Amino acid sequence: MKKIILTSMALAFLGMTSSAAMASDDINAKKIFSKKCKMCHSLTKKKVGPAFKDMNKDSSILLSTITDGRKGTMMKSYKKKLSSDEIAAMVSFIQVQQGS
Ligand code: HEC
Repeated sequence: MKKIILTSMALAFLGMTSSAAMASDDINAKKIFSKKCKMCHSLTKKKVGPAFKDMNKDSSILLSTITDGRKGTMMKSYKKKLSSDEIAAMVSFIQVQQGS
């Protein structure tokens, strides 16, 4: 969040108008997926965890699972590893795989 505010301020200073859109483009969900999720999740096939396309469709469940993890499973909390904006980006990324 702090980074976005700083980025927006920097862009506003440069006289650019689409600062919000540009700041969120800084988050590359596909890259986060490859680095932090791919060892357990595939986009389309079940691995250690469910395929992104077969996950729950409820965004609040996706959000809370990534944020807090799921007790007693391999799915750990990402709240210290990803920013809240990055977690939100992962929820949208999962929903894109679900074709919504
Ligand atoms: C060490 C393996 C592992 C890694 C790494 C991992 N997950 Fe998971 N994840 C799982 C498992 C196993 C489950 C199923 C948990 C259960 O049984 O409810 C799961 C469940 C989930 C769910 C809930 C799906 C649903 O339908 O309710 C989401 C969302 C999710 N993972 C997202 C992610 C994201 C995003 C990342 C990367 C930032 C990630 N996971 C990294 C193992 C992993």
